[in-house]
Amino acid sequence: MTFENFFEIMTKKPVFFRIFILCNKKTIKVLKFKVSDVIIVVDKQISEKIFNNKRERFFMSMYEEKTARTEWFRNDRFGMFIHWGIYSIPARGEWVRSPEKMSVEEYQKYFDAFDPKYYDPKKWAKIAKNAGMKYAVMTAKHHDGFCLFDSKLTDYKATNTPAGRDLIKEYVEAFRAEGIKVGIYYSLIDWHHDDYPHYGDAIHPMRENEEWKDYKHNFSNYIEYMHGQVRELMTNYGKIDIMWFDFSYDEMRDEKWEATKLVKMIRSINPDIIIDDRLSMAVSNGNMSFDYDTAPYYTGDFKSPEQVIPVNGLKDAKGRAIPWEACITLNNNWGYVPQKTGYKKSKDVIRMLVECVSKNGNMILNVGPNAKGEIPKESIKILEEIGEWMHENDESIYGCGQAVGFDKPEWGRYTMNGKKLYAHVFDRGISSIMLDGLKGKVKSARLLSDYSEMQFSEPFFSKNNPTAIYLNIPEGLPDEKDTVVEFELN
Ligand code: GLC
Repeated sequence: MTFENFFEIMTKKPVFFRIFILCNKKTIKVLKFKVSDVIIVVDKQISEKIFNNKRERFFMSMYEEKTARTEWFRNDRFGMFIHWGIYSIPARGEWVRSPEKMSVEEYQKYFDAFDPKYYDPKKWAKIAKNAGMKYAVMTAKHHDGFCLFDSKLTDYKATNTPAGRDLIKEYVEAFRAEGIKVGIYYSLIDWHHDDYPHYGDAIHPMRENEEWKDYKHNFSNYIEYMHGQVRELMTNYGKIDIMWFDFSYDEMRDEKWEATKLVKMIRSINPDIIIDDRLSMAVSNGNMSFDYDTAPYYTGDFKSPEQVIPVNGLKDAKGRAIPWEACITLNNNWGYVPQKTGYKKSKDVIRMLVECVSKNGNMILNVGPNAKGEIPKESIKILEEIGEWMHENDESIYGCGQAVGFDKPEWGRYTMNGKKLYAHVFDRGISSIMLDGLKGKVKSARLLSDYSEMQFSEPFFSKNNPTAIYLNIPEGLPDEKDTVVEFELN
């Protein structure tokens, strides 16, 4: 059935019309009206687009719709976060202006000097691809308000720095060319815009500056600017896969951002885009108190726990698993810092990724390129090592999720994809590895890195646990970062 047929059928009913009012496209309210009543179809254009685009979504609940929309995202599991801007010059983190209470004027020297002569996002895209990352999200504007993209609504943008060009355009094109899905990070907060609250705000660099005390902000002016920039990002760069807003705090949240209107606008341009949860206050480590079907329209498609992996994954109030993505830094900062210390080991990062997947989550791993436009060498090295592991073991990540029915084992973690169960062995222990509950359920077992057959043993104590099987692992572990054994279940 096409939208036109559907529309026709509905309008030809003789006595009672079933009038479908498409409210903000997520719910359909079916009402009965008399013939004399007026047919109302709110925003026919939007409904038509959604109907034709994903017909089945027409009758979905919000939870089902979010599940459908995030299908690729939940499959891909691993992404690259890129924090880059003029803050790479002071190199004290992307928040530098806030703790140092630095004015726009003092910060101007970094704008004037921004000249990233080695910026080549094709290189970044290759690094991401080789690491096994399937999507990326890059900061188009961070809290400092500086725009890496060519916005018509401000002069505070890369095109007016010595860089002299739209750096987001190049990023989007380069990553797409490598088959990597592209996301845009956009800061709701703006420390450059005059109409964003300064004095008395919790985090603004000018929060204690008396000169701003009596300044009359026109916040709706800022909202118009912010919505306008988001519209530019949605229209000027082809299909964007993820919109990553950051972040809400105090009363700066929800409808203060005119969130419903904003998300409606985004979805009218790009119905399939995945949007994060930070238009509202982000909850990082616990289950949601709300039901995904009745939550506000602008509720995120995924949760975004920061620098933490939720203990048991995340669920909504009805106990349904909801998509989430842990955002994690490689060192201790998002933006570039020159310190060579504080970097995580590739082994730890791999295990974090596995942990996320074992709890139905994603991981987006950050790089903070320097002022010349290069990803730090230390980060590249870690990403290469992750890439080597992914090359051998990515089947235990992509398309995988929680191994339902199997508790977290003592020696590591499980991930699962259909009938394939993946044992991620972190700790060999002292003898063969016990897998409880698998007796009689396994068809075959192989080492994922080279598809070589794995064998089982029957140690003398196996009688004590008749539901377990015991896996032989050679001396040491074949891969001390994470040895993955694939079981094909009956
Ligand atoms: C935070 C920080 C920010 C960073 C982000 C990434 O909320 O303000 O600097 O961009 O998280 O998750």
